[in-house]
Formats: sequence, C-alpha cells, structure tokens
Amino acid sequence: MSQRSSAPLAVVTGAASGIGKATLERFVDEGFFVAALDRSQEGLDRLTQSKIGPCIRAFPCDLADVGTLTPLAERIVEELGAPRALVNNAGVCLYADITETTDEMWETSLNTNLVGASALIRGFVPGMREVEGAAIVNVASRNALSSSPRAATYDAAKAALLALTRTLAVELGGDGIRVNAVLPGFIDTPIHGDLLEDRVFVENYLRLIPLNRIGSPADIANIIFFLASDGAAFVTGQGIVADGGQMSGQNYVKVFGERDSFRVRQEPET
Ligand code: NAI
Repeated sequence: MSQRSSAPLAVVTGAASGIGKATLERFVDEGFFVAALDRSQEGLDRLTQSKIGPCIRAFPCDLADVGTLTPLAERIVEELGAPRALVNNAGVCLYADITETTDEMWETSLNTNLVGASALIRGFVPGMREVEGAAIVNVASRNALSSSPRAATYDAAKAALLALTRTLAVELGGDGIRVNAVLPGFIDTPIHGDLLEDRVFVENYLRLIPLNRIGSPADIANIIFFLASDGAAFVTGQGIVADGGQMSGQNYVKVFGERDSFRVRQEPET
C-alpha cells in the first residue's frame, strides 16, 4: 500500500478505536492519507482490511515506550513525507486512590498521555516546518480543568498536555505550525468498558450535561479536523472544551429536582 501521491498526510495516534478511529475516518473523507498509530494490532488490521484500507498505513507502536517514538516519527517522514496534521489522541486512564497509585502507574500514564506525544512531536516537527498549514492537535480532557477522584495520574497528565499545547504554540508559531487541544467531556467509546450499559449511571450523568446526551466520537473528530484545517488558521495555543456544556455549570433542577427556592420568589399578598 502506498500513499496517494497528492494527498496530504495526517498522523493519528490511538487510531484503532473511539475518537481516534472517527478522526482517521474524517481525515480520509477529507482526502488525507493517514498514518494510523496504535498498540492494538487487531484494531489496526481491522482498519487496513476495511474499505478505507488503501488510504491508511498502520504503524503498531506503544506510546508508553517513549524511546521508540522519535525514531518511528522519523521513519514515517522518510516513508510518507512530513504530516500536515499530527493528532496526539492515544491516552490511558488508570483509576486508583492516591495511596494505591504506584510509581509504575504514574510512569505509564505520564508516558502514554504526555511524554509519548512529545517524543512524536520531536520527530515530526523538523519536517512539519516545511509543510504549509501544518498543525498539531492534542486530545486532552475536560479533566485537565476539572478533576475527578482516583484520577490523579490522568488529571495531571492531561493538564500537562494542555500546558504543553500552549508552550508549543508559542515555540512553533514562528515556524507556521499551529498547536491546539480539544478537551472532550463524556464520549461514548470503548474506554468506558460497559459503563454506558448501566442505565442508572447514564440517567444520573445526563443531569450534569446541559445538552442532555453523551458525546459521540464524531463530535470530537469534527473539532479535531477543524483545528487542523485552514478554517482555524489564526487559532493556536487554545483548548476547546467539547462536553455538551458540562463545564458551564449545573442545572440545579436537573440535579436536585424542582424546589420552591429555585423559582422566582413572590411576596405573599396582604
Ligand atoms: P479508546 O479506548 O476507544 O481508544 C484509545 C485507543 O488508544 C485504542 O485504540 C488503544 O489501543 C490506543 N492506545 C491506548 N494506549 C496506547 C498506547 N500506550 N500506545 C498506543 N496506542 C494506545 O478511547 P477514546 O475514548 O477514543 O480515547 C481517546 C482519547 O480521548 C484519550 O486520550 C482519552 O483520554 C481522551 N478522552 C476520552 C474521553 C471519553 O469520554 N471517551 C473523555 C476525555 C478525553
């Protein structure tokens, strides 16, 4: 399989599932050739054997194995050219109380969510400097701004990824490379296991979301594509929260039910 000669290249990590897969499909729809990075060989095989297979090249890798990533990026540039878009999407969330959180968990989380992305960026940036309109999009999380219990390694890694986004926007702006982030809220992907089959959980969670629905992978892929496209040519260093309004505030009536004190108070008639 070879790259379509005139097609721009997008690199997407975590491309075999969920948000990464929807992002890959969106870039293919838009005429890109996509380098799909993932640790799931089975997931990558499914992609390359699908009808969009000719528009994809699979690169199995482990984002936690940081030392392999800069050489991998250099190999991709050698074989396919420099990317116009790099989407650092792969991530891992390891839940544990802080007293149960091991050094190994910190290492896995920080490497997968943060340092791995940085190692790929190091390998791609020299080539991207030569590509007109080049852009990097990092997939952080709503948790970069609003934390959850038992998610210390995830929350810290995603907050750091958002900080890295701003640093690189300033550092690479002069090279014409834009760097932005998307911060998804609750999105229906396999990362949640069977949680979304729990109707009580979903009903309760929806009380927190003004738009009253769980997000879809395509909701996030649309924003990633926008941030990578010329439509966002004057946008860099930004994080777009896409959470159905969850971060904007709580609807007390949805959370606690109707209460007299949530209504306009009227003076009793005398
Ligand atoms: P997912 O589990 O559907 O897909 C993640 C993909 O990344 C999988 O194909 C997996 O094999 C790959 N991956 C994981 N660790 C890897 C590693 N070490 N090396 C290579 N590939 C690896 O998950 P989803 O939901 O699509 O997540 C994508 C990104 O979105 C993650 O960074 C996640 O933290 C973020 N996110 C997801 C939210 C959600 O509600 N689904 C909310 C906020 C952020």
